[in-house]
Amino acid sequence: MSPDGMTPYHSSARAKINLFLHVTGRRENGYHELDSLAVFADTADRLVLEAPALPGEKGRLVIDGPFGAGLDAGPDNLVLRAAAALREAATVPSTTPDWHMRLTKNLPVASGIGGGSADAAAALRLLSQAWSCESADLATVAAGLGADVPVCLAQKTQRMQGIGETLVAAPVLPRCAMVLVNPGIAVPTPAVFKAWKESGTGFRPPASLPARWENVHAMCAALAATSNDLQPPAITLYPVIGDVLAALADTESCLFSRMSGSGATCFGLYEDMPEAMRAVASLRHHGWWAEAGWIHTPLN
Ligand code: C5P
Repeated sequence: MSPDGMTPYHSSARAKINLFLHVTGRRENGYHELDSLAVFADTADRLVLEAPALPGEKGRLVIDGPFGAGLDAGPDNLVLRAAAALREAATVPSTTPDWHMRLTKNLPVASGIGGGSADAAAALRLLSQAWSCESADLATVAAGLGADVPVCLAQKTQRMQGIGETLVAAPVLPRCAMVLVNPGIAVPTPAVFKAWKESGTGFRPPASLPARWENVHAMCAALAATSNDLQPPAITLYPVIGDVLAALADTESCLFSRMSGSGATCFGLYEDMPEAMRAVASLRHHGWWAEAGWIHTPLN
């Protein structure tokens, strides 16, 4: 049980959106160096530590929610891999019990918004509390699990560099409504990076950003000078992404639209929530998943 002794530990695992993503280099191990501005959405998976396992019993993972069907809840699931990696890194005593966990998948899978990474980061946050090992080097454990996991630990606007593990301060963002749209296709990230490479596109320099954007119009003007370098190859592989972007750009009062990560989820930015909610209603007519929320701004 959590510190109040009553409620289980639980955490939101928010969608991560790349407002831009420049491919700036390539490492010998095949990973790409990036410069990307990551923000977090209100829309989130949810992870709950439901009950401690019995001594010697393995912690079980149960997955439910709208996108939970067919997901592997076995030891290869990133949540259970995160638990095992934390146990090892923090040398948690074998007498300390595992936890049975429940993951509610509200985010589409393999969709460029870091759902699996957010779930793994939530597991690290919750288990480090439950196992009283908050002083463990969570950032290093996170980086070992995947390039997007470190940024998902704090779930706040940050700039990602290196292959994603180097987090640097981002501009202060204005209040901004955001719509997420996914056409219901799972996109394998390695295939998109491969298509990017085969397209012969050169590396792009890091973006030049101010310390803050005073309003959403200034932010969108600056974003227009950046790109998601993975968007053209993703559209080549999955042309429906181009349809999603055209439909988003067509929604009333959409200030900016782009694909996130390696796709297929795309986002639209709006000054206020009523416009974003109207956009969601029109995008759902296509049979696509669409959600509106604010860009998440944690208090610390
Ligand atoms: O680290 P993660 O498992 O999320 O990455 C999935 C795949 O995406 C990698 O195997 C790699 O092909 C590609 N990738 C990359 N450069 C990055 C991040 C991911 O090439 N910075």
